[in-house]
Amino acid sequence: MAAREAGVAVRSALISLCLVLAAGCGAGSSPEVEEGPDGTPDPVLVAGRAIFVDRCSSCHDADGSGTGDGPRLNRGRVLEVYPEPGDAAVVVSEGRNRMPAFGGLLTAGEVDAVLRYINEVL
Ligand code: HEC
Repeated sequence: MAAREAGVAVRSALISLCLVLAAGCGAGSSPEVEEGPDGTPDPVLVAGRAIFVDRCSSCHDADGSGTGDGPRLNRGRVLEVYPEPGDAAVVVSEGRNRMPAFGGLLTAGEVDAVLRYINEVL
C-alpha cells in the first residue's frame, strides 16, 4: 500500500517536472532571465518577460523573431531602429498601424520593463 502511494507520488513529481521543463525550455517559449551576479534574476527583466509573454509574443513570436503579424524585435533590432532612449516606448505606448497602443494597458514602468527584456534578453 505504502509502496503504491510512493509510486504515485514519484509519478506525479515526474509529471510536474516535465511540465516545468516544457514551460521553461520547450520550443516556442520566451527565454528565461538569467541570474545576475547576486544569484537572482533582475526582477525588472522578470516582470518584462511576463508582459512580453502575455501581450507581445502572439504577434512578435516567443523569441521576438517576428511572425506574419509583427516584425522581428530580437537580437538588438529595437535598439538598431530606435537608438534614442524613449523612442521605442512611444511606439509601444501609442501604437502604429497594426501595432496596438499599450499606453492605457501598461504603465510607463511596465513599457520600460518589457523593452529592457526585449533588448537585454531576446
Ligand atoms: C496585434 C499584434 C501585435 C501585438 C500584440 C504587439 N505588436 Fe508590436 N508591432 C506589431 C506590428 C504589426 C508592428 C509594425 C508596425 C508598423 O510599423 O507598421 C509592430 C511594431 C513594434 C515595434 C517597432 C518595431 C520597428 O522595427 O519599428 C516595437 C518596438 C513593438 N512592436 C513592440 C511591441 C511590444 C513591446 C508589444 C507588447 C507590449 C507588442 N509590440 C505587441 C504588432 C503587434
